[in-house]
Amino acid sequence: MDKFIITGQKKLSGTVKINGAKNHALKVMAASLLTDQSFIIKKIPNIEDVLRMKELLRGVGCDIDETKNTSFTTKKVFNHVLDKKIVPRLRSSVLLLGPMLARNRKIILPHPGGCAIGKRPIDIFIDGFKSMGVKIKENFDHYSFGINTPLKGCDFIFNKISVTGTETMLMAACLAQGKTTLINAACEPEIAALAEFLNKCGAKIKGAGTPKLEIIGVEKLIGGTCEIIPDRIEALSFAILGVATNSKITITNCCTDHLAVPLNILQQIGAKMIITDNTITTLPHGPLLAKDIATHEYPGFPTDGQAPLTVLLTQAKGISFVAENIFENRFIYTDMLNKMGANIQILNQQKISIKGKTRLKGKNVESPDLRAGIAMIIAALIAEGQTEIGNIYQIDRGYEKIDQRLIKIGADIKRVK
Ligand code: EPU
Repeated sequence: MDKFIITGQKKLSGTVKINGAKNHALKVMAASLLTDQSFIIKKIPNIEDVLRMKELLRGVGCDIDETKNTSFTTKKVFNHVLDKKIVPRLRSSVLLLGPMLARNRKIILPHPGGCAIGKRPIDIFIDGFKSMGVKIKENFDHYSFGINTPLKGCDFIFNKISVTGTETMLMAACLAQGKTTLINAACEPEIAALAEFLNKCGAKIKGAGTPKLEIIGVEKLIGGTCEIIPDRIEALSFAILGVATNSKITITNCCTDHLAVPLNILQQIGAKMIITDNTITTLPHGPLLAKDIATHEYPGFPTDGQAPLTVLLTQAKGISFVAENIFENRFIYTDMLNKMGANIQILNQQKISIKGKTRLKGKNVESPDLRAGIAMIIAALIAEGQTEIGNIYQIDRGYEKIDQRLIKIGADIKRVK
């Protein structure tokens, strides 16, 4: 398996361009199954999760043409059984439930299972589709979902806010009979962007980006061209990287409106930044200050920025507290930061304390999940000496050519077999 070898404390400077958002691209790709016409999708990031989604879509009948712009066309869904090797590697496979049930009325979903950050149950999806009239059977290693009639519009209340739950129900509701109302829906900008595009293709969705969505089902969607929005988590990761390494780095092609809360928090910690509508420039700063932070659904501080932020807080003077309110197992990387010299205590499953400022030293570490992986890269860039990061498939899942982009701004990072 590939790993990264990073020698820390190099001077970094320059410009990093943000790619299309993973968590928008995967959703639009899945939504392409809603119609027999083509979706042309621009600015899809070239990352492992996108490759897995392409494999999954091809497996059910989608023709993907990458000669010019990438187009996705599913004239006919010829297979309703999702690949059991791909589903456990790609949590977003559950997104296919919505379009497959709307278009094909049945789907076999191998058990997606948990991952490093949590158990990742699918009870919300099950309750949601039951409300639309779907019959669901749980078997030893898969779920079977089926309905003999078109999906029925319904009123559905999310007891817990779920991003892909909202998106999956939203996609299904586009072709359901009658009206669907989703209450306590997630408000992430990727959801609003998905709905905006589906409306261009003939859907009737109101309220996306707010907690209440109303969708009037239509008979058919047409094809269209969608440009993927900038990846706000990638932009935040690079902003934290710039602040943590005390460097002047300009991050372009981002939408800073989507990052209001995390950028405000970085400034309160002591980061100096010039922020425009679509760029962030991190500047050298004075001492950083400890802070208490809790992750929250959008527009709060994102759980996907929690691990990088914790690395930054190892460089802040005083005791910081970080509470993780979205996933139940998102502190496993803290052991590795402690191995590198951090002083982090897990107070309970949802809260850690970080005593800073600490000097970090290069060690052999792993990338347990995507965002912990980028956090390890940031830690390695600050650390004295050499750090080896294993399991970097996890980082490649969401950050395109991260090594090459870091080399361009002066990092000493090598990808080795
Ligand atoms: N949950 C349930 N039951 C369900 C579904 C979710 O209990 O049926 C729980 C989850 O276990 C979690 C909470 O609800 O505790 C919120 O999970 P959510 O469903 O919102 O997460 P998700 O949709 O699976 C998306 C992103 C994640 C991001 C979260 C939270 C995609 C493809 N993934 O996941 O992104 O962390 O929302 O914002 O959009 C990443 O990009 O690294 C990543 C993990």
